[in-house]
Amino acid sequence: MQPSPTQTGRWRALQAHAQRLRAMRTLELFTRDPQRVTRCSAQACGLYLDYAKQRLDAAAIDALIALAEERELAQWRERLFAGDCVNGTEARPALHMALRAPRGARFIDSRHGDVLADVHATLDAMRRFAGAVRGGGWRGATGAAITDVVNIGIGGSDFGPRMVCEALRPFVDGPRPRFVANVDPADLNDVLAGLAPATTLFVVVSKTFTTQETLANARRARSWLVESLGEAAVAHHFVAVSTNVREVALFGIAPANMFGFWDWVGGRYSLWSAVGLSAMLALGPERFDALLAGAHAMDRHFIEAPAAANLPVLLGLIGIWNSNFLGCASQVVVPYAQRLALFCGWLQQLEMESNGKGVDRDGRTVDHPTTPALWGSVGSNAQHAYFQMLHQGPAVHAIDFILPVEGDAGCDEMQRMLVANCLAQSAALMRGKSVHEVRAELQATGLSGAALEAAVPHRVFPGDRPSNTLLLPRLDPAHLGALLALYEHRAFVQGVIWGVNSFDQWGVELGKQLTRRILDRQSDAVIDPSTAVLMQRTGLRR
Ligand code: F6P
Repeated sequence: MQPSPTQTGRWRALQAHAQRLRAMRTLELFTRDPQRVTRCSAQACGLYLDYAKQRLDAAAIDALIALAEERELAQWRERLFAGDCVNGTEARPALHMALRAPRGARFIDSRHGDVLADVHATLDAMRRFAGAVRGGGWRGATGAAITDVVNIGIGGSDFGPRMVCEALRPFVDGPRPRFVANVDPADLNDVLAGLAPATTLFVVVSKTFTTQETLANARRARSWLVESLGEAAVAHHFVAVSTNVREVALFGIAPANMFGFWDWVGGRYSLWSAVGLSAMLALGPERFDALLAGAHAMDRHFIEAPAAANLPVLLGLIGIWNSNFLGCASQVVVPYAQRLALFCGWLQQLEMESNGKGVDRDGRTVDHPTTPALWGSVGSNAQHAYFQMLHQGPAVHAIDFILPVEGDAGCDEMQRMLVANCLAQSAALMRGKSVHEVRAELQATGLSGAALEAAVPHRVFPGDRPSNTLLLPRLDPAHLGALLALYEHRAFVQGVIWGVNSFDQWGVELGKQLTRRILDRQSDAVIDPSTAVLMQRTGLRR
């Protein structure tokens, strides 16, 4: 049994480093170390990470790496890739890296042996199906070609393919991808409003095929189709992605129209499996392959690169440093790329479902914060929303800026503006503006006396607000794959340091149980008086 990380000498050493560095301006660190920009940067798979704006120096980085060694990060990474049951509470491996490994690689599920043959058999089946739908070989019940694909799924069965289709929109040349997740009927209604049954294909995605929201949407979609095309049309317009053949068959989708995956694929790590089918249909098999190849390249980097040059290790340790040692209030992620508008939602599930845990692997209550609240949205829009708080609010938040350098062709001037905005924000957050500077600025405008003094405090920026900047050459399938795998491994690194199981999610169960009870009107014994009244007022109980 590993002790809590807080009980180690390495943790205490890091607390001392934090105290030392809190007393120093970040800008001063550049003066002290002329090599800082080189030292505090790393690159892999085309991605460049600048972390020179963090309140870190070489000694603190070494201490963080020493903490990772003490927490046996290398050994846990080996166990992860070896297919050991790293998901202890469910006695399963977490082998999502196998989903993007090329033929010939070896990935072993410690319980059942080699998984790669199954992975590639499924990928081949997906490619054949995508080729047929895109090429017109697979048609709807009336003989019309498929023009729209509706992915019905939620959580990990939605965020990944939805975000990828949005991020790679210029590469979409197949049927139009649509997504329905919410059990709010408005979601499905709005999507169906623009569609014709004869040209619509539904992909029902659910690892368990028992998720209430997904099944409710799938049933309504099925009725919508059957009403106009009849029962026999289901076989032409519905396919399933699941691990649960029995439930899929009970729903009325034949096993021949099902794409499988395995219990060792966690929902939030499942984009690379058949869960990505809607993305493959939209983008085509080659681009989906490029996405997988980018992620695989990041897997290799994660295994091979030394800690000090390892992007997932560095990002993970910097996150720990900011939240556990510098006390940052949250993790903000701001992509300066409109097409990454859904990235944050995907990342929220990845990080907060993975590491939002209050007990360690052995079931002991943790004595330190685990994953911070993660939020964000695209820049430059975000600058006109919550950046005021990031710059001048009393709490300090850690920020990741993500910036594809090259934008859409023929729009160089606007892309330059976007890039300049991104760089200006991270610089301003670090630099701040002192009382002295503000006073000088105001004096130059002619202000003086009491009016000047009253104006000064409102215009001061404390600075020293830490950020990473991650550059991608452009938003294409390979670089997107690498970016997503980078954050997946970052979550793993942090889970290892905190000592939690990053691959289960028991915290979602109680709400599901109570929903069922409320729907069954079993309120009296289990529901508190407040909820009982709300049930009455909403018509759930008379
Ligand atoms: O949110 C809980 C959860 O179990 C996620 O982990 C998962 O991605 C989502 O529900 C959907 O589950 P399924 O794919 O089984 O429908």
